[in-house]
Amino acid sequence: MRTSLSITAICSLFYSTLATITPPSQDAFYDEPNNISDYTAGQVIRSRSVSPELVSLLSLPVKVSVKTVYQYLFRTTDSLGDAVASAVTLIEPFNSDPSKLLGYQAFYDSANVDCSPSYTLRADYENLGFSVSGLNVSEDIPFIAAALNLGWWVYTTDYEGLKAEFTVGLQSGHAVLDSTRAVLSAGPDHGLSKNPVYALWGYSGGSLASTWAAELQPSYAPDLNFAGVAVGGTTPNISSVLRTINEGSNAGLAFSGIVGQSRAFPNLTDWLNENLIPSKSDEFYSIARGCLSQASSNGKNQDLYSYAKDGEASFSGGVPESIFTWSGQLGLHGTPTAPLFVYKAVGDEISPVADTDTIVKKYCGEGARIEYHRDLVGNHESEALSGSASALAWLADRLNGEDVSSGCSTEDVLLSSLSVETIALLGEELFSVIESALGGML
Ligand SMILES: *[C@@H]1O[C@H](CO)[C@@H](O)[C@H](O)[C@H]1NC(C)=O
Ligand SMILES: *[C@@H]1O[C@H](CO)[C@@H](O)[C@H](O)[C@H]1NC(C)=O
Ligand SMILES: *[C@@H]1O[C@H](CO)[C@@H](O)[C@H](O)[C@H]1NC(C)=O
Ligand SMILES: *[C@@H]1O[C@H](CO)[C@@H](O)[C@H](O)[C@H]1NC(C)=O
Repeated sequence: MRTSLSITAICSLFYSTLATITPPSQDAFYDEPNNISDYTAGQVIRSRSVSPELVSLLSLPVKVSVKTVYQYLFRTTDSLGDAVASAVTLIEPFNSDPSKLLGYQAFYDSANVDCSPSYTLRADYENLGFSVSGLNVSEDIPFIAAALNLGWWVYTTDYEGLKAEFTVGLQSGHAVLDSTRAVLSAGPDHGLSKNPVYALWGYSGGSLASTWAAELQPSYAPDLNFAGVAVGGTTPNISSVLRTINEGSNAGLAFSGIVGQSRAFPNLTDWLNENLIPSKSDEFYSIARGCLSQASSNGKNQDLYSYAKDGEASFSGGVPESIFTWSGQLGLHGTPTAPLFVYKAVGDEISPVADTDTIVKKYCGEGARIEYHRDLVGNHESEALSGSASALAWLADRLNGEDVSSGCSTEDVLLSSLSVETIALLGEELFSVIESALGGML
C-alpha cells in the first residue's frame, strides 16, 4: 500500500525537519576531499541515509511514496578536465521494482549551491523561491512523484556541482554520467537490482544536463547503457537563449547562466571583472544569487546588456562567445547513441524551437534514434506539464524493455496528445498539478 500523509503530518514533519537540515554551503557532507584526484570517475567518496521526508516540502495533501533516501558524494570531472565532487540523491519508493531506475534531472536553474536538489528536495525552501506561487510545491516534485508511484527508483543529481555551475554543459553531463555510475555501484547494497534498466528524464535546465549527458556518454562513459533519454523544453544553444530571454520575464536566468559559466571558466570571471560596469556589478551578481523563481523575479525585464561597458557588443566574440559555444552549444561533443524522446512547444519563449529542430536534424544525420514531438499548443511553462504524460509513457516503455524503431520521426502534436491512458500513468500528484495549471486548455 502507498502511504499518504495528512496535511497535519506534513506540517509537523516540515517544522521538525527544517531546523535540522543544514544547507550544502555549510554541510561537511559536501566537503571535497583533498585527494579527490585519487578517486575514479563515479567512485563514491561518502554516503549517508537521510530521513525519507520528501513530502516535507509539500503543502498539498498529495501522496508521495518514499521508503528510503540515500545520498552520495561522488567524483566527477569538471569542464577543464579536473577531478571534482558532486552529490546525488537516490530515492526508493514503497513497493519498488528494483529493476527500474530513473535519473531525473531537476530544473534548479541556479548559481547558488544552496538551491541544489539534494537539499531543496528535503527542505521547504520558500525564501529562496523553489515553489510555484500559490501552490507551494517544489516544481520538480510532481514529476519525481509520478515516477516513484510507478515503482521506479529515482536518483536526482546536483549536476551543477559544488560551485553551482548553471548552464555549464560539460560539468552537467559528466556529473549525470558519474552519478549514474555511483548509483549503479552503491545502490545494490540497499536493494537496487545489480543490473537495473535505467533511463534519464529532464525538462528545461534538467534537459540541458540530460542531453549533454546523452551527447557525452559515448566518449566519457562508454560503460553506461541508457535505455532512453526523455528531454523537454530543450535548450540546445545558450547564446540563443540569452538573446531570447533578455528584457523578458525570464531575463534573470541569463544572469545566473553567465555567473554559472564563470564558475567553470576563469577567463570568463576575469572578463566579467573587466567588462561589467563597476557601479552595476553588485546588482548583476545579486540577481544571479537566487533559486529558479527568485532569480527570475529579481531579473524580470532586465536588460543584461546594460550591465556591460560595451553593451550588447561585449557579449559577441572573444571570451563569452568562445565559452557559450564550447560549453553551451549541443552537437559539438558527440552524438547520443541512447534513444531520445524530445518534446518542445513550438511557442517556447525561452529557447526557440528552431534550435531544437536544428539539433534533432544534426543528431539524426549522425545516426541517432529520436522521437520528436513539436507541440503546437502552449509555451515553455505549459509544455513542462502537458508533455510530461507522453514522456512518462515513453520512459515506461523503455524501462519495460521495449525497443525503439531505428531512425527518427517528427510529429506535430496538440497539447502533446494527452490521452486517457497517459493521464492514468501520471498518478494523482502530477495529474492534479496539470489539472489546476492547464484545466482551461484541456
Ligand atoms: C583519500 O584520503 C582519505 C583520508 O586520508 C582516505 O581515507 C581515502 O582512502 C583516500 N581516498 C583515496 C581514493 O585514495
Ligand atoms: C503558500 O505560501 C504562502 C506564504 O507562506 C501562503 O500565504 C499561502 O497560503 C500558501 N498557499 C497554499 C496553497 O498553501
Ligand atoms: C546559436 O545561437 C547564436 C545566437 O543566436 C547563433 O549566432 C548561432 O549560429 C547558433 N548556433 C547554431 C548551431 O545554431
Ligand atoms: C577561455 O577558456 C576556455 C577554457 O580554457 C577556452 O576553451 C577558451 O578558448 C578561452 N577563451 C578565449 C577567448 O581564450
